[in-house]
Amino acid sequence: TDLTAFVRGLPKAELHMHIEGSLEPELMFELAERNGLALPFKSVEEIRAAYAFSNLQDFLDIYYQGAGVLITEADFKDLALAYFRRLAADGGTHAEIFFDPQTHTDRGIAFDVVIKGLLAGMDEAEKTLGVTSKLILCFLRHLDEDAAFATLEQAKPWLAEIVGVGLDSSEVGHPPAKFARAFQAARDLGLKIVAHAGEEGPPAYVWEAIDLVKVDRIDHGNRALEDEALTARLVRDGTTLTVCPLSNLKLCGVKTLEEHPLKRMLDLGLKATVNSDDPAYFGGYLLENYMATATAVGLTREDLVTLAKNSFAGSFLSEAEKAERI
Ligand code: ADE
Ligand code: ZN
Repeated sequence: TDLTAFVRGLPKAELHMHIEGSLEPELMFELAERNGLALPFKSVEEIRAAYAFSNLQDFLDIYYQGAGVLITEADFKDLALAYFRRLAADGGTHAEIFFDPQTHTDRGIAFDVVIKGLLAGMDEAEKTLGVTSKLILCFLRHLDEDAAFATLEQAKPWLAEIVGVGLDSSEVGHPPAKFARAFQAARDLGLKIVAHAGEEGPPAYVWEAIDLVKVDRIDHGNRALEDEALTARLVRDGTTLTVCPLSNLKLCGVKTLEEHPLKRMLDLGLKATVNSDDPAYFGGYLLENYMATATAVGLTREDLVTLAKNSFAGSFLSEAEKAERI
């Protein structure tokens, strides 16, 4: 439609996308075969049928299993390139992608293999698609603080290639405070800080993320709306929220997309952005997230322009780069 063409034509940055979550079933099969691995599924259709989730943990269990086919540098490069092709087709021009090194190092894949492959894909995407990107390393919050510190240590030779550190995986029971020291160490290395908070966890976790961890952005942040003082604080600080509507729907954070809070967030003056989170698992890449939400909650063209502008304003590009690209 007209509106789809309009949104595709808006320059957009994606700020919340886990590269392991862009692994499509077709590529999963291809990599399993290439690496001589057996999958517990017989077909692409069977895999897609397994993607029915009741909550975040349901999804994470299958997401970590899927990542098991990623073995070589070439695998990570192919994964990244496939994502950037989809992003470019959606009119995305910049992405700050998450990766979960512990998911790979814990099964014997070297940190360097993971990052070299991803960087090769990012480099080729910039050259062939004109899409720029940055890398954000995520600590898995279900693991302990020592493991986060060990991961940060492995990242030290690569600090010029990593813009920031994030926090993902099972939220409830693993508050941001658990990693306050690891994040302080990351900040001392010059890294930006983000954290998933308020996806399933309570407003208290969002408070911790801003006051204790001092994040530069909040990933999700939906449940912040339950706390008026917290909402006011996020508005006053101009904190960017990287919201993921189709993810929220698939993980049952909202019962229907019609009741998604994105429009309310914009009306409250929150710096919300639209993102795909784990597009291969949640049924839509960046443009589909914009369009499905626009239809469901009634976003105006003005709202859509605001969302696209917020994505660059909230990015880790330099102020000069932002001015050039918004
Ligand atoms: N890892 C990948 N996607 C995630 C999400 N939506 N929440 C927490 N951890 C994740
Ligand atoms: Zn996420």
